[in-house]
Amino acid sequence: MSDASTAALRYSPPAQAFHWLTVLFVAAAWTLGVLGDDLPKGSIRHMGEFVHVILGEMVALLLLLRVVWRFVTPAPALETTRFGAPALLATRLVHLALYALLVAVPVVGVVTLFHGGEPLSLFGVVDIPSPWPRNRELKHYSKEIHELLAHALVLLAVLHASAALAHHYVMKDRALKRMLPAFLGAD
Ligand code: HEM
Ligand code: HEM
Repeated sequence: MSDASTAALRYSPPAQAFHWLTVLFVAAAWTLGVLGDDLPKGSIRHMGEFVHVILGEMVALLLLLRVVWRFVTPAPALETTRFGAPALLATRLVHLALYALLVAVPVVGVVTLFHGGEPLSLFGVVDIPSPWPRNRELKHYSKEIHELLAHALVLLAVLHASAALAHHYVMKDRALKRMLPAFLGAD
């Protein structure tokens, strides 16, 4: 097989890095979000929220880089299965929904902060003040929506990961290998 066709058989190294770093930051942001209310009140909880926001900002930044990169270097074609076109359509819809949730969760997170009257700290470097006065009720609703969307993202990601593992272990195709670096020994 030529080098060119081998290269097209997997996502490019930057696309893989964006994907796996997103997995890491989503998992960390979600865990800290869920455990946040159990942290002792005061500076520890404040630090937890600060780290949570930075992790969320990393998710948003990675998404931006990833989408730009996807236009520069298109993704390899999807693996076909015996389930045919409906399965390909379902895969595309799940990917689209994952992208939509990767946008929506951080956006509603920022809205939640602003309704609480708190500034958004951009990576701990610059503070963007809230454009709105503090509103407890709106903060409560946006926090609920943020939480719901975050749970939906994690649930869909678990389904998506299960599908990738089923491709690998049951259908024994290259779907998962395409998202793994060649140095791991994947063909
Ligand atoms: C820029 C990005 C983000 C910002 C500004 C943000 C902001 C917030 C805020 C202000 C809260 C409420 C904290 C409180 O008052 O108790 C919160 C909670 C939470 N966040 Fe985020 N977040 C962001 C990204 C994310 C991401 C990427 C995830 C996970 C996928 C996530 C999952 C959660 C969860 C599960 C909660 C707990 C909600 C609850 O207990 O009601 N957030 N976030
Ligand atoms: C927060 C968790 C995750 C998110 C948000 C996520 C998101 C995505 C997105 C949006 C794509 C489409 C890439 C594109 O073509 O533009 C993708 C592809 C892929 N993901 Fe994930 N993913 C997550 C976790 C996982 C996990 C845990 C696994 C493996 C167990 C996995 C395996 C794959 C594979 C193999 C592909 C390539 C699919 C194909 O082209 O057939 N992902 N992921």
